[in-house]
Amino acid sequence: MKKILVTGGLGFIGSHTVVELQAVGFEVVIIDDLSNSSESVLDGITSITNKKPIFEKLDLKEKSSVENFFRKHNDISGVIHFAASKAVGESVENPLLYYENNLNTLIYMLKEVLGLQESNFIFSSSCTVYGQADKMPITESAPVKPAESPYGNTKQIGEEIISDTCKVNPNLNAIALRYFNPIGAHPSAKIGELPIGVPQNLVPYITQTGAGLRESLSVFGDDYPTADGTCIRDYIHVVDLAKAHVIALQRLHNHKNDSNFETFNVGTGVGSSVLEVIHAFENVSNQSLNYKIAPRREGDITSAFADTKKANTVLGWKAKSSLNDAMDSAWKWEQKIRNL
Ligand SMILES: NC(=O)c1ccc[n+]([C@@H]2O[C@H](COP(=O)([O-])OP(=O)(O)OC[C@H]3O[C@@H](n4cnc5c(N)ncnc54)[C@H](O)[C@@H]3O)[C@@H](O)[C@H]2O)c1
Repeated sequence: MKKILVTGGLGFIGSHTVVELQAVGFEVVIIDDLSNSSESVLDGITSITNKKPIFEKLDLKEKSSVENFFRKHNDISGVIHFAASKAVGESVENPLLYYENNLNTLIYMLKEVLGLQESNFIFSSSCTVYGQADKMPITESAPVKPAESPYGNTKQIGEEIISDTCKVNPNLNAIALRYFNPIGAHPSAKIGELPIGVPQNLVPYITQTGAGLRESLSVFGDDYPTADGTCIRDYIHVVDLAKAHVIALQRLHNHKNDSNFETFNVGTGVGSSVLEVIHAFENVSNQSLNYKIAPRREGDITSAFADTKKANTVLGWKAKSSLNDAMDSAWKWEQKIRNL
């Protein structure tokens, strides 16, 4: 049974990935500092999988703690590195917090991974590296555009750090997964997204509005050059995304990678507008959502959806869930945490 370290494993995407890793028989160790999650997520994971992962509460910004951790767990055969700060607006307000947390932790982690018997590394990257791409759907070879925010920049620099390190360390095998827009929750409604404060993302804002926590949702701009005038994104069910990590890790374990640093888009390949997401919610929840059209928001791009050919054919992964499935799971989760 191979032992996998999942950093940020109590967060939204990390927790769903831990479930999928355990489901196929990996032993999982989670590191999380609980800065954006709760220890109770462990109970959700355990209840779904009947197996409690090992958990170490540790801040990865503390280099010596990272070193001590790897001294104790030198039999790790793969690291999935989710831990990062992810609020775009906050990163503009406090860039150093983002550069410190997202880059230092990556560097400390890579240094330790280099010393392992099996140096396999999966990195949480993002479609933000493409900015407003010139062509839709976006392929992995689309140019990386100047980042719109310090957060986005940490993903670009993060990929460069990994790429440079791979060039001179042939034993290091890394994959950067460029996520599009992860949404939804586990179908059991035992784990899901737990935004702290006002949600930054569309779907938790929608479900909180549906649950009566927020009065109304603002749709930022309905005059974009799209069919209904609202922005288009590629919304991917978090369980599909979690499975992509398992497949990527198996690719490295089985030495199937074509080079020692690969990138893959992880999306559905389908673009959905903000209004389509709202209507999907209305459909699964049988209620109409209170929303209003507001002015455009600075920095929002018109459209971004993935070309998934490389992920489908090379990685051997494909998203299975529909937007309705994802909205249904998100709504079940919101109802569960609000006791509705
Ligand atoms: N959710 C998205 O829309 C999205 C899109 C693209 C990429 N990503 C990336 O995916 C990864 C996971 O995102 P998520 O949505 O699950 O976020 P999340 O905030 O739910 O999870 C991140 C976890 O990392 C932990 N963490 C943060 N800093 C830490 C540190 N210094 N030491 C230990 N633990 C730390 C947090 O407590 C949290 O549990 C992040 O790298 C994020 O940038 C997310």
